[in-house]
Amino acid sequence: MEKRIVVVASGRGSNFQAVINALKRGTIPAICVALITDNSKAYVIERAKSECIPVILVDYATFSSRELYEQALLTALKKTQPDLVVLAGYMRIMGRGVVKEFSGRMMNIHPALLPSFAGLHAQRQALLHAVKVTGCTVHFVDDSLDGGPIILQRCVRVMDEDDEDTLAERILIQEHIALPEAIRLFCEDRLTIEGRKVRTR
Ligand code: GRF
Repeated sequence: MEKRIVVVASGRGSNFQAVINALKRGTIPAICVALITDNSKAYVIERAKSECIPVILVDYATFSSRELYEQALLTALKKTQPDLVVLAGYMRIMGRGVVKEFSGRMMNIHPALLPSFAGLHAQRQALLHAVKVTGCTVHFVDDSLDGGPIILQRCVRVMDEDDEDTLAERILIQEHIALPEAIRLFCEDRLTIEGRKVRTR
């Protein structure tokens, strides 16, 4: 059975595009039922429009409190009846209510090999720490900051001459492979969460 995916994104949306491209290739048994964004200026909105994916704007700037925003986001998400919620460059910490509602059904892409370099500016953190290898992680979302069960990871070598931009660019190439792959595994019912461990059949 085809699964219903909703993507939540705040910015440029290259990961959203990678997911849509994979769906269009027919390699994932799923449809993208909506893009939800918290940012009215996000370029990802243009991408969704040109792919004829419905856009739902839950504009953070228009809410008087974080609680009200989270409530509206939860309502919007539930309305789309997703089997899977994909955070693809969502630049906020997801509220507890939403995390609880979609436990085991919400994944996130992070531009580092977690648990290293959680939070913002993961590529900058990697360069400051002068690691030789970094990469990206797709994980289920729980209450912790980028700390949920890991689905898959891909590595990227750090070069001496790298700056934040060159490193981010090379990590992004791997993100665009990792995220559709994790979504495919989920949609084929091949992932099982056992505590911290995600097993892949
Ligand atoms: C990606 O590096 C993602 O890992 C991080 O934010 C960036 C979003 O890029 N969470 P894009 O909007 O998908 O192009």
